[in-house]
Amino acid sequence: MAVSQTIENPTPTAAIRGPVLTFTGNPFKEGLEHTMVYESDAIVAFGGGKITHFGPAADIHSQLPSGLPIENYGSDSLISAGFLDSHVHFPQTPMIGAFGAQLLDWLDAYVFPTERRYADKEFASSVAKVFLQECLKNGITTSCVYCTVFPQSVDALFEEAERLGMRMAAGKVLMNRNAPDYLLDTTQSGYDDSKALINKWHGRSRLMYAITPRFAPTSTADQLESAGVLWNEHPDCYMQTHVSENKSEIAWVKELFPDQKGYLDVYDHHKLCRPRAVFGHGIHLDDDEMQCMHTTGSAISHCPTSNFFLGSGYFNVGRAMKKERPVRVGLGTDLGAGTSFSILATLNEAYKAAQLNNYALTAGHAYYMATRGTANAMYIDDKVGSIAVGMEADIVVLNMKSTPIIKYRMEFAKDLQEALFIQMTLGDDRAVQATYIAGQLQYRNEASGAT
Ligand code: GUN
Ligand code: ZN
Repeated sequence: MAVSQTIENPTPTAAIRGPVLTFTGNPFKEGLEHTMVYESDAIVAFGGGKITHFGPAADIHSQLPSGLPIENYGSDSLISAGFLDSHVHFPQTPMIGAFGAQLLDWLDAYVFPTERRYADKEFASSVAKVFLQECLKNGITTSCVYCTVFPQSVDALFEEAERLGMRMAAGKVLMNRNAPDYLLDTTQSGYDDSKALINKWHGRSRLMYAITPRFAPTSTADQLESAGVLWNEHPDCYMQTHVSENKSEIAWVKELFPDQKGYLDVYDHHKLCRPRAVFGHGIHLDDDEMQCMHTTGSAISHCPTSNFFLGSGYFNVGRAMKKERPVRVGLGTDLGAGTSFSILATLNEAYKAAQLNNYALTAGHAYYMATRGTANAMYIDDKVGSIAVGMEADIVVLNMKSTPIIKYRMEFAKDLQEALFIQMTLGDDRAVQATYIAGQLQYRNEASGAT
């Protein structure tokens, strides 16, 4: 049972009612029994963008101002903190599901020609709108987003995210070699453009800037060093890049940086390993590299649908999270190598990746990863990722019987863990009933409940 929570002088303007699932800590460290909270009939009230009340409906109801609207989602729903996506490429939205290539060929054949189009701000804005609507439709309330080398693509994404009131991190890709000329910046222009974008966007509304060297092969040592210098000048920004995703990529990095111990060491050498560093993939990191991730407070974004789609491998989440040397791990869709905006579908693939490593990822651990765990990887678990008083009111409401087969399967669910596991095995965007951003309803699935 959750303990009822209120803040002093709460001024709720709306409230929702239904079963709530949330986490008070990290179940990989402390166990599910100490960290997972399920309240079968709860009220969550919000005002001023934050959660003002949370607890059993019977306790909270009497504390709310009379006449406050309370939307009752009913016992077949599940209220959770909004999902987070720690690694995604919004410009790749128009090319999801590109056939037949692994990472390096896929970049050349599909990604680079697509990203060229973002020199056109109008095109960038049109994709940003589609992208963020898909996020809302899938209950994603915060993402860490790669834009393109063109600064106007960052403006496009942030303008739309600001309009929706979303907490979003994003950045301009830095890339000064090993890509077509039409996509290259220089060390100086990359630094200048990124700095101007930081000054314009970082800390404005709920937006956060991510310094974004694409990956070691497309930046010279000089550009990586400049990214480290820029980050040092703006240490509360993020730094996002890719590491150890694909075997050919790793061999290429060895050729390009022969003096470094390994792939992660290329970044560490350039002062790019520390809190708020988000490294996509990390599938093939060795034990020393995992230790470096742990020691430096860097995070890995686990992107299972992408890793299967590109044939990159299967990340060992149990190894990364192990208690003796825990690494912060967030979940990522990695569109357009990733194949779904659905966090439930992504958890389904995370389960399979874990199985291939002989590790059984429980539903409880998986939902933690999709919410508070990813917020922890991004160092914003004091703001989002859980349902608690004072947290920002980014909330997803799931329908636990969103399709006929899920509804049927749920008749045989023995307990909560099984019910949650059914959602992540069979569920997708149809399971998302509503998404709230800072307490404002920004998406409602009109078809939800029509099973
Ligand atoms: N490595 C460098 N760029 C990319 C990208 O756009 N997607 C993925 N999955 N890996 C990358
Ligand atoms: Zn990526």
